[in-house]
Amino acid sequence: MDIDRLLSVFDPQTAAVQHGSVVNRYLSDLKGYYADPRAYEAASSGGNPLVYSVSSLEPGHEAGDLHFGVGMMLPGKIGNEYYLTKGHYHAWRAAAEYYIGLSGSGMVLLEDERTQETHLIPMTPNAVIYVPGYNAHRTINTGTVPLTYIGIFAANAGHDYGSIAERNFRHVVVEQDGQPVLIERQTYLASLGRA
Ligand SMILES: [Fe+2]
Repeated sequence: MDIDRLLSVFDPQTAAVQHGSVVNRYLSDLKGYYADPRAYEAASSGGNPLVYSVSSLEPGHEAGDLHFGVGMMLPGKIGNEYYLTKGHYHAWRAAAEYYIGLSGSGMVLLEDERTQETHLIPMTPNAVIYVPGYNAHRTINTGTVPLTYIGIFAANAGHDYGSIAERNFRHVVVEQDGQPVLIERQTYLASLGRA
């Protein structure tokens, strides 16, 4: 293996990873992911801000290899719904992942494809969050500063974004009385008068 692949350095502020590749997601990339389309349109009319950035290091692609990513999510809301990542399943459904919180405060939303069971796990600095296989996972910044974190997963896990793009998570995380609250999407839509 190329010796350059044996050491990398990441910048926890920008999520840049030495030898890594960067994906930036802007508000326009997240059309359809937020529950409230009117709030989305209103936010979009004010510009197209960066919502999150993920840098990935992929030293190898053989079974047994590991991939490493650093995420940096900006704070913000669309209506009452906090800034979120698209979320995904792993293409290889059984593949798990570790998330490790670096800075800021947020949540990881998990939804088991087999049981529909939902978990909302707090992500704070030094939190080590195990994302089991078969669970769709989405990161949410519920704080007022950037949320940064590490993800480590099997190289052959793959990403399935399409299933989430099609039907989204069954729950949303919204601000109520200054606090993040997990509620069913349909209940939130009904509260907006748009179920
Ligand atoms: Fe993942």
